[in-house]
Amino acid sequence: MTEMTEKLNRAAEYIKAHAGLVPEVGIVLGSGLGDLADRAEVSSIVDYADIPEFPRSTAEGHKGRFVFGRIGGTPVVIMQGRVHYYEGYDMQQVIMPTRVMALIGVKTLLLTNASGGIDRSFGAGDLMLLTDHIAAFVPNPLIGKNPDELGTRFPDMSEVYDLGLREKSLAAADKLGIELRQGVYCQLTGPSYETPAEVRMLDMLGADAVGMSTAVEAIAARHMGLKVCGVSVVTNPASGISETPLDHEEVKVQAAAAAVRLGQLLEELIKNI
Ligand code: HPA
Repeated sequence: MTEMTEKLNRAAEYIKAHAGLVPEVGIVLGSGLGDLADRAEVSSIVDYADIPEFPRSTAEGHKGRFVFGRIGGTPVVIMQGRVHYYEGYDMQQVIMPTRVMALIGVKTLLLTNASGGIDRSFGAGDLMLLTDHIAAFVPNPLIGKNPDELGTRFPDMSEVYDLGLREKSLAAADKLGIELRQGVYCQLTGPSYETPAEVRMLDMLGADAVGMSTAVEAIAARHMGLKVCGVSVVTNPASGISETPLDHEEVKVQAAAAAVRLGQLLEELIKNI
């Protein structure tokens, strides 16, 4: 066993001992979206700070804990607060929670985030289902010795965001009368927001929304064979498209406003997984 898998196992063993259930679905909540955990029938809570080897989330608007419970009968684990590269963690630490979720039983990972809209038809508060991502501007989280027991050295990424889950998400949105847009998400490191020139570049490259998370977690999850679904809350038109300077407070306000719809959507999706 490598040093990395030893650390992962230590964290996983602690969490298993405190979880009270074996989660099938993992849900990662982005900035301002933490309240979604209110939808779960909660059975236990595990703070990241108590987990051996675990990175802590320092970002504002992120709580830093796993909430275990059931949504519509399905056992879930909800990550309230993720770890970002811009906080100073290396990529292996950023994806550690994803790997640990897989080790404690999660088979399907639902990733959420807040993003800036590059597609000009997106308005603040729109929900975007991820069809694909661009992660080429951030270090690949699988760089380093490959833990073969977790996954293959060169994992396929031709369908990161599972088509079946996308179809179920669209059907759930339709049933609930929620508008669900679709597009390609690009992860940059942050923490500075983009310049207008960078947003024009990303537009040319085929990105529809930009943010500071998610793609590397999706890569790590696919590496371990999880099914992945991603939904982004477009909290603002991206830099240069927006008339006004970007502001994290506004991002949180918009995310909170969209969180109810996102929660309804995820709950309906989970019922159908
Ligand atoms: N850019 C990057 N990340 C973001 C944005 C943005 O405009 N809005 C919310 N998260």
